Amino acid sequence: MSEFIKAAVIGHPISHSKSPIIHNHWIEKYALNGSYEAIDIHPDNLSAELDKLIAQGYSGFNFTLPHKELVLPYCDELEQIAEVIGAVNCLSVKDGKKIGSNTDSYGFLANLTHQKQGIDFQGGAALVIGAGGAARAIVSALMSTRMPRIYVTNRTFEKAQKLADELNMFTDLIVPVAWDKKDQVLDQCTLIVNTTSLGMDGEPDLEIDFGRLSKGALVNDIVYAPLQTKFLKDAQASGFETVTGIGMLLYQAQQAFRKWFHVNPEVDEELTQKVLAQI
Ligand code: ATR
Repeated sequence: MSEFIKAAVIGHPISHSKSPIIHNHWIEKYALNGSYEAIDIHPDNLSAELDKLIAQGYSGFNFTLPHKELVLPYCDELEQIAEVIGAVNCLSVKDGKKIGSNTDSYGFLANLTHQKQGIDFQGGAALVIGAGGAARAIVSALMSTRMPRIYVTNRTFEKAQKLADELNMFTDLIVPVAWDKKDQVLDQCTLIVNTTSLGMDGEPDLEIDFGRLSKGALVNDIVYAPLQTKFLKDAQASGFETVTGIGMLLYQAQQAFRKWFHVNPEVDEELTQKVLAQI
């Protein structure tokens, strides 16, 4: 019998997390010897409680709000992507070492490439809306596709500027754009991604002038509750192809699962529907 693998998602609060549904679906599907739970840990007790869980044999963790940044100093090593993003959403314990990673960039790109076969990243610019943790993961992912330009716009311009300064390093690929000027770059864009909380249930909607968007552009919202945001519906009404946010959640989980269970689990329709039914 193979070793029992214990994993968990840590947050505060945690009851809303869809990660247990996803990982337990795969543990069952592949008949693996392991478990995945949701554990609430108050941020003040994060290190002490993680130490206890590791002593109990846990070897894989996901982190959600408010822990993604707080857990950085707890890690013995950081994968480069976690360092660049400045947040850890996935931790693996290997030979007693706590290795922090971030699977959001992978999740974003894997979703786009699966939903839109043959997507051409190099034919135009991207507009990333928002400058928080998710935006950093997405901009990092887009940099790896060699998009010629990545515009970043944010309500608080300074945060877009900071993101560009930090991620550009030796390039000038990322260009910050003022919130009230974002429509002016739409004619150059072949991809738009909403990474803000605008459009989520209970939040105001995101509005852009789709009339100015380059023909054939792809529109992605990482919000998945609701799945069809007004932003995506407006894009469809103007004739644009859209990609919903649920896939990024599923694919970021896929990479984490692979790290802990050494199985490449499938993101299929059955799993997608199972998760959507809980939203
Ligand atoms: P995440 O980790 O999901 O990216 P975050 O770091 O809290 O979450 O970032 C939230 C993003 O949504 C930010 O870009 C935020 O803009 P500000 O930096 O100006 O706060 C954006 N956001 C949230 N509410 C918004 C609103 N009402 N209008 C515009 N942007 C909003």
